[in-house]
Amino acid sequence: MNNSWVIFVAYLIGSIPFSFLVGRWWKGIDIRQCGSGNVGTTNVWRTAGPVAGIIALAGDLGKGVLAVILARHFGGPWLVTLAGAAVLAGHSWPLFLGFKGGKLIATAAGVFAAVSFPVLACTAVIWFVLVGIFRYISLASILGIISIPILMAAFHLDFPYILLGVFAAVFAVYKHIPNMKRLANGTEPKINLKKW
Ligand code: G3P
Repeated sequence: MNNSWVIFVAYLIGSIPFSFLVGRWWKGIDIRQCGSGNVGTTNVWRTAGPVAGIIALAGDLGKGVLAVILARHFGGPWLVTLAGAAVLAGHSWPLFLGFKGGKLIATAAGVFAAVSFPVLACTAVIWFVLVGIFRYISLASILGIISIPILMAAFHLDFPYILLGVFAAVFAVYKHIPNMKRLANGTEPKINLKKW
């Protein structure tokens, strides 16, 4: 049976813009016009508060988990890899939001939690340590996602999963180019750990 429909469904799942919907329903704001303008968990948290941020995180992360569970049900590692790439593409280029989506970190966390929980757990530790030291979410997200394919290789995961890790890292770094420019010129906002 041809299971390529799973890849398209994964893209549609990724296209559900939870961060946009939470901003709209929770606070009546258009997240694209607020804060960094990114349709993602960090910007929802920043502009609509922690409760909205956690709901957005659950939705965006859940999309990644769901896509992997679906692909694993109907196929093997290559289908999981293609569906994982598709859900990330859907999140970043959503059909339901004019192809302007987020930077894929929360959805990638869901994908890799479902692919390999130990890898995601190590990445989460790296992310929290980097946020604690530097207080830049974007920097922690960039370095955290780069660590994923490296950790996958260290954990001897199947090659297709490592390829998915490389894809996610390259894609996320590309989406964070504006953040990297702000980090370089000192205008990237730090988070206030006392306030959060
Ligand atoms: O997950 C996105 C985060 O790394 C950066 O978000 O809104 O600060 O550009 P933002």
